[in-house]
Amino acid sequence: MTTWIDACKATDIDQEDVVRFDHEGRTFAIYRSPDDEYFATDGLCTHEKIHLADGLVMDDTIECPKHNGRFSYKTGEARGAPVCINLKTYPVRVDNGRVMIGLGA
Ligand code: FES
Repeated sequence: MTTWIDACKATDIDQEDVVRFDHEGRTFAIYRSPDDEYFATDGLCTHEKIHLADGLVMDDTIECPKHNGRFSYKTGEARGAPVCINLKTYPVRVDNGRVMIGLGA
């Protein structure tokens, strides 16, 4: 079963940007794409646990601020050294202007 968590206002995230969201001891990164879609991943880089919300969004990619590792924030795919472990992704929906992320039970 999926539990939907209210993360932020849709307008809290600029287009082609990312914000950090912490919930019950976990940290997530929530993205707004250039074409106005929303996505969510684990918030920490799989290389050295750096907050990806401090990184740079370019098109469908998040670049980690520490060693410039890159992931697709849409699929979680690691896109080259030094990152080799994919990011976990989460479903997202927008309800009444709020960004909701879906967490498994
Ligand atoms: S900590 Fe993210 S690429 Fe190294």
